[in-house]
Amino acid sequence: MSEESTLEELTVPAMEVRQIHKTFRDRRREVPVLRNISLRVPAGEFVSIIGPSGCGKSTLFHIIGGLTSPEQGEVLLQGRPVTGQRGHISYVPQQPALFPWRTIEDNVVLAQEIAGAGGQSSRTEIQHWLEKAGLGGFERAYPHMLSGGMQQRASFLRGLLAPQEVMCLDEPFSALDALTRSEMQRWLVDIWEENKRSVLMITHSIEEALMLSDTVYLFTNRPASILHAIQVPFPRPRRDEITEDPDFIRLKREIASMMAEEQRKTAAGGV
Ligand SMILES: Nc1ncnc2c1ncn2[C@@H]1O[C@H](COP(=O)(O)OP(=O)(O)O)[C@@H](O)[C@H]1O
Ligand SMILES: [Mg+2]
Repeated sequence: MSEESTLEELTVPAMEVRQIHKTFRDRRREVPVLRNISLRVPAGEFVSIIGPSGCGKSTLFHIIGGLTSPEQGEVLLQGRPVTGQRGHISYVPQQPALFPWRTIEDNVVLAQEIAGAGGQSSRTEIQHWLEKAGLGGFERAYPHMLSGGMQQRASFLRGLLAPQEVMCLDEPFSALDALTRSEMQRWLVDIWEENKRSVLMITHSIEEALMLSDTVYLFTNRPASILHAIQVPFPRPRRDEITEDPDFIRLKREIASMMAEEQRKTAAGGV
């Protein structure tokens, strides 16, 4: 491989969406959902999306995953257009979609099984991750025997061990209570800092986004466009104390006020 192509690989983002437009239509009405969405997930970075409920975030994920087609725009992985194609990303849905008849271990290796031979983790590797996820001793248990938080961690591990380079997390912690949620965030920061996957995560929580991300995109109300792209300046590894840092608090307030302003616009405009 020539030097130039190596350099190019370093600069091409792991994933990029360019000028995505999407409108849902039925016989009676048209609902514009995404208006000119462009964003990038550089290789090995953690990128988050914060946006009002119903603005089109999950729709964007469906487009990235090839489940829905955009009217305009492109999805690129490592610079290669994959718009409308499935199977290229690892997708962790909002609810942990574990198969009830498979053990935790068999659920966790499922994405690798589907991808076929090659790139499969060894037993030792899987054991390592299960233990890191607090699931050691539950390898042979079935999903219903686990708490919601544990199921969510198993679902997340499945995404993490999947062979695809980019992982999309759709509000991964929204179903959890506050305590479990903050434990999970801490766990995710640790695991991500060890594993450095390219991640795009949807969240409602500004604190969660600032804690985890390198870049945060703020979405407007529906039809979603990009209100702001924020580079998160805090060094890694990030620890809990960061939430008490004055700069963290300032940035959190700034984002909260931008989002509140966006909500007021809707209330005033009656969109
Ligand atoms: N398949 C669909 N057909 C028609 N409308 C849809 C469809 N999927 C989503 N919508 C509408 O698109 C909007 C955005 O939905 P969604 O992307 O799920 O929002 P978010 O994830 O930001 O909460 C909502 O108004 C929703 O009702
Ligand atoms: Mg959603």
